[in-house]
Amino acid sequence: MPERRVFVAGFDGYLGWPLSQHLLKRGHVVAGVDAFLRREQVAGLGACSAVPVASPQERKSALREHFQQTPDLRTGNMLDFPFLRAFLKDFQPDTVVHLAEIPSAAWSMIDQAHCSFTQHNNVIGTLNLLWAMHEVCPDAHLVKLGTMGEYGTPAMPIPEGFFEPEFRGRRDRLPFPRQAGSFYHWSKVHDSNNTMFAWILWGLRATYIMQGVVYGTEIEHQSDDPRLKTRLDFDQCFGTVVNRFCCQAVIGHPLTIYGQGGQKRGFLPLRDVMQCLTLVIDSPPNAGDYCVVNQFDACYTINEIALLVRQACSEEGLTVDIMEVENPRMESGRHEYQPDREQLLALGYQPAGSPLQEIRMMLADLLPQRERIEARAELLLPDIRWDGAHRRSGVLGREAAG
Ligand SMILES: NC(=O)c1ccc[n+]([C@@H]2O[C@H](COP(=O)([O-])OP(=O)(O)OC[C@H]3O[C@@H](n4cnc5c(N)ncnc54)[C@H](O)[C@@H]3O)[C@@H](O)[C@H]2O)c1
Repeated sequence: MPERRVFVAGFDGYLGWPLSQHLLKRGHVVAGVDAFLRREQVAGLGACSAVPVASPQERKSALREHFQQTPDLRTGNMLDFPFLRAFLKDFQPDTVVHLAEIPSAAWSMIDQAHCSFTQHNNVIGTLNLLWAMHEVCPDAHLVKLGTMGEYGTPAMPIPEGFFEPEFRGRRDRLPFPRQAGSFYHWSKVHDSNNTMFAWILWGLRATYIMQGVVYGTEIEHQSDDPRLKTRLDFDQCFGTVVNRFCCQAVIGHPLTIYGQGGQKRGFLPLRDVMQCLTLVIDSPPNAGDYCVVNQFDACYTINEIALLVRQACSEEGLTVDIMEVENPRMESGRHEYQPDREQLLALGYQPAGSPLQEIRMMLADLLPQRERIEARAELLLPDIRWDGAHRRSGVLGREAAG
C-alpha cells in the first residue's frame, strides 16, 4: 500500500490513540490534533478510565520510542479555524480521519449547556474541517466518523446511506431518513448533511462511516507498554454498553440492563475498527465521490450482550447477576433492526474474532483494574434521564447467575 499522509483529528481518544499507532505501524506519516476534552469530561463526572491513561507527554514519548517517526501531534481545538486551516496547510494530508467530536448521548442530554456544547463542538468543528479542507487540501479524502445511531430504529431494513423510494409513480435516490435518539446523535445527523452538501458543492471526496457501538481494549499487536494502551470508560456517559458490562462484571456488580433489554444495535470490536478504517483509507473514493458505509460486525440485543459477558465470566470463575433498571432513555425496547453492511465486506473486512474472544481479552485487561472501578462503583447506575429529571434509575428486577 502506498505511504499516506494521514491527519487524525481526535488522536487522544478511545479510537484515535490506537488508530494513530496502527497507522504509524503501517508506515504512514501521521499528524493530528486534540483538545483533550474527553479527559476533562470524564474527570468532570468524577469518573476515570478503567485502564490507566498516560499523560499526553508520556504518550508522545512512547510513540517516539516505539516507532520510526515522531508524528506531529498538536494540542488545539477544531473550533479554532485559523489554527486548523494553518495546520492542514502545513501538513498537506492526503487523508483526514475526523474523530474529534464529543461522542456521548447521555452527556448531551444532561441539560441545555451540555446539549448546546455538544452540538456546537461537533457541528462547528466539522464545518471548520470541511472549509479548511476545501481551502487548503481539496483533493484529500475525508473519513468522517458518524454513528449507526443516526438512523434510529425504523421498521424497515437500513441501507448504507441512500435508498431508492418510489412515490406517486416516481423513483429517486435519496438519503435514507435519519431518526436520531439524542441531541448528540442529532449533531451527527447535522454533520452528515453538511458533509454531503460539501460533496455536492465542492466535490469533496468523502467516506461517511456509520459506526456501530465499539468495545474492547486491544488492537492487533498491542504493545505491552502501558503508555500505549487506550482508555476504557465505564461511567453512564462515556462507557458504551459492552465496556460498561465488563467493568461491572469484574467487580461483581450486576450488569445493568436499561429496561427490558430488547434494544438491538450493531457492534464491533476495537480491533475491527482499525481494520475497517484501514480498508477505507486504503481505498479512497474517486475524486468527487461520496460514499456512506455502515461499519459493524454483527447486531445483538442488550440482553444477548449481557448473556455473552456472563458466559465469558463464568469461564473465568466469575459469577455475574443481571439487573433490569428503569431505562433513563427514550427509545424503543423492542423493534426490528436489519442494517446492511455490504461495502466493508466488499473491501475485504473479515471480523478478527468472535465477541466472546474479545470479551475474554477485555476481562484479562480489566481484572487487574478492579480497585479503580470499585472506587467509582456509584457511577454504575444512571441518573441522566431523557425526560430531563435527574434521579437514579430504580431497579426493576434481578436475575441471579446459574
Ligand atoms: N466509541 C464508540 O463506540 C463510537 C461509536 C460510534 C461512533 N463513534 C464516533 O467515533 C468518533 C471517536 O469516538 P471515541 O469513542 O474515540 O471518542 P473520544 O471522546 O474518545 O475521542 C474523541 C477525541 O476528540 C477530541 N475532541 C473532541 N472535540 C474536539 C475539538 N473540538 N477539538 C479537538 N479535539 C476534540 C477529544 O478530546 C477526544 O480525545 C466520534 O466521532 C464518535 O462519535 C464512536
